[in-house]
Amino acid sequence: MFSHIASRLHGETNALYRLRDALINQSIPVRDLISGNINDQGFVFPQDRLEEILVRGSRQSKIYRPDSFGRIQAREAVSEFYNNRGVSLDPGNILLTPGTSLSYWYCFKILADEGDEILCPQPSYPLFDYIALLSGVRLVPYSLDETKNWTMDIDRLESLISNRSRAIVLISPHNPTGHVASPEEIAGLSEIALRHDLAIISDEVFSEFLIGRKVLPRPAGSEAPLICTLNGFSKMFALPGMKFGWMALSGEQNRVRQAMRALEIISDTFLPVNEVIQAASPEIFRQGESVRIDFALRIGECWNIAERYLESTGCCSYIKPGGGFYVTLHLDGLDEEKAAEYILNKNHILIHPGYFYDMKSSHLVLSFVQKPEILRDVLPALTTTLSDLRTRHPGNFNKDV
Ligand SMILES: Cc1ncc(COP(=O)(O)O)c(C=O)c1O
Repeated sequence: MFSHIASRLHGETNALYRLRDALINQSIPVRDLISGNINDQGFVFPQDRLEEILVRGSRQSKIYRPDSFGRIQAREAVSEFYNNRGVSLDPGNILLTPGTSLSYWYCFKILADEGDEILCPQPSYPLFDYIALLSGVRLVPYSLDETKNWTMDIDRLESLISNRSRAIVLISPHNPTGHVASPEEIAGLSEIALRHDLAIISDEVFSEFLIGRKVLPRPAGSEAPLICTLNGFSKMFALPGMKFGWMALSGEQNRVRQAMRALEIISDTFLPVNEVIQAASPEIFRQGESVRIDFALRIGECWNIAERYLESTGCCSYIKPGGGFYVTLHLDGLDEEKAAEYILNKNHILIHPGYFYDMKSSHLVLSFVQKPEILRDVLPALTTTLSDLRTRHPGNFNKDV
């Protein structure tokens, strides 16, 4: 009865999450140090302001007059957001979507046919596999080099390009390594895109959360023939439930025009985004400015706390993230899966082994975006356990045991 695709759409609970569920069933509280939902960590858009904005939005959208690209006022607000960052993106070339995940699907659909290839960073947040399966494209991983602070190896990336390649995905700040692509990496990437006539899909969902720098280098405005810049409200304003995202196209005029024509039909088929949030979005940008700045400062402070524990205990090595919510710990040969299970059993702290993100060798991934009191509570236990694993029990946790 079902399609081949449907038969591949099943996710089995892995051992780590079975263990977590067992602990919860025994009423043991588990501290989740990996969730990307920052609402759970105390980052919430002020309720009174949001209510007011949404009431006004609902009044402005009483009569349904959908625009396939999304309301022009909302697209102008997105364009102004980039203008304020020195990037010119025409509101006429912006499409509203219900979030970045769907923006990816739209990009894959307009750029690639069945069996065509999209180059994606490895390691990576496990988001693409199902999107690729649903859209029939083949993902070709290009690796980020941990020995060079998780930078892209541009020559190696170019060697992976074939006559089926259609686009390169850039995620910066990157999830989970926290790598922020430098202007040189972006220039190299754009040059390759131009040479091989490939689009760049630039996922910037963590753009507002930079560590130790103020400006995010972006491919928009580069020489690449087509750039799709993706972002949305889910991380920026801690509003994942609003399902408000966008893709902003730039590059060669005729390519952008062609892409927008195709996107108009796709989006018209489904119609873009809830009208209330569309009408409310300019005000969320305006009133959310101070909220967003406050979130960014608080998240910077979260990293400072985490870094103090990691540094002072020397429990493992890591590369300081340039942005985002995550840090990747290097376990120097210890079995990451056993280590994550041990930490969950002993400390009741949930963090992920690196293989969840297609990371090579032994790593653990955790989010430092937590309430400061929780960080101060859990990090001493976590860093002590990590130090113990390396010094007292290394034999039990070696990869080959
Ligand atoms: C790198 C990256 N891109 C995209 C998304 C999904 O974004 P959205 O909530 O806008 O669909 C996530 C979610 O965590 C992410 O980590």
